[in-house]
Amino acid sequence: MAEPPVSRETPPVPDAARGVFHDRLALAERYAERLATDGVVRGLIGPREAPRLWDRHLLGCAWLGEAIPTDASVCDVGSGAGLPGVVLAIARPDLSVTLVEPLLRRTTFLDEVVRDLGLDRVTVLRARAEELHGQHEFDVVTSRAVAPLGRLLDWSMPLVRPGGVLAAMKGQGAEEEVAAAARELRAHRAGRVEVLRLGAGEIDPPTTVVRVEAAGPSRLGWTPASRPKPRPSVTRSPGRKGRRT
Ligand SMILES: C[S@@+](CC[C@H](N)C(=O)[O-])C[C@H]1O[C@@H](n2cnc3c(N)ncnc32)[C@H](O)[C@@H]1O
Repeated sequence: MAEPPVSRETPPVPDAARGVFHDRLALAERYAERLATDGVVRGLIGPREAPRLWDRHLLGCAWLGEAIPTDASVCDVGSGAGLPGVVLAIARPDLSVTLVEPLLRRTTFLDEVVRDLGLDRVTVLRARAEELHGQHEFDVVTSRAVAPLGRLLDWSMPLVRPGGVLAAMKGQGAEEEVAAAARELRAHRAGRVEVLRLGAGEIDPPTTVVRVEAAGPSRLGWTPASRPKPRPSVTRSPGRKGRRT
C-alpha cells in the first residue's frame, strides 16, 4: 500500500517554545522553517521529522541550555544541521558557539543558517573533532546522536578545558552508557558524572543529558607539543581561510 504523503510544513509553534526562546522566538521559527524546507530537500533531516520539529528537536535542544553556564564557550561536536548548537545559539545569545561538522554539505547549510539568522557569535568549523585536539578548548562540549558515550568521550574530552564539562544529549539508556564507558571516563580524568533529566513536566520526554566534569587535562587525544602539528585541515567559515576540500 502506498505511504501517505509526507508534510514539509513547519508545524505551529507550541506554547512551550515561548518559555525557552523568549524574544528570540522569531529566530527559532526561521530556523525551523529552514530545516523543514532546505533541510529536508537537501537530505539533512528526514521528511518525517518536519511535522515534529518543535517537540522532538528544537525544544529538547533548547532545554540543554539549562546545563550550560552563562557566557560559556560551547563546542557542538557533530552538529549536522545544527542540533543542538544552532538552537543553543538562538536561545542563549550569551554563549559563543562553535559548530564542528566534517561533512561539506552540512557545513554549507550551517554557514547559510548562521548568516541568514545573523548569529554573529557562532563559528562553523569543517573538521572531525579529533582534528581539533590540542588546538581548541571550550568551557562546554555538547553533542546529540553522534556516537556511543565511550567514543564520544575520546572525541570530546580533549576539547573540554580543565574545570569545564561535557554535556551530551542521550536517550533512555544513558545510565547504561555511563556504566559501559568506565574505562574512557578514567582515561580522560573525568570528575563528577551525572545523568540529568531537563525540562521534566514541560516537555515529554525530558532532555536526558550525560554531564561529565573534566577534573584535569585529558590523558588521551592531545597532539604532544614536541611532535609536528598535523597538516592544516580545518575550514573556518564564513570568511576565513579555506581548507582543501
Ligand atoms: C546522526 S548525525 C547527528 C547530527 C545532529 N547532532 C543531530 O542531532 O541532528 C551525526 C553527525 O556527527 C558527525 N560526525 C561523525 N563523526 C564525527 C567526528 N569524528 N567529529 C565530528 N563530527 C562527526 C556526522 O557527520 C553527522 O553530521
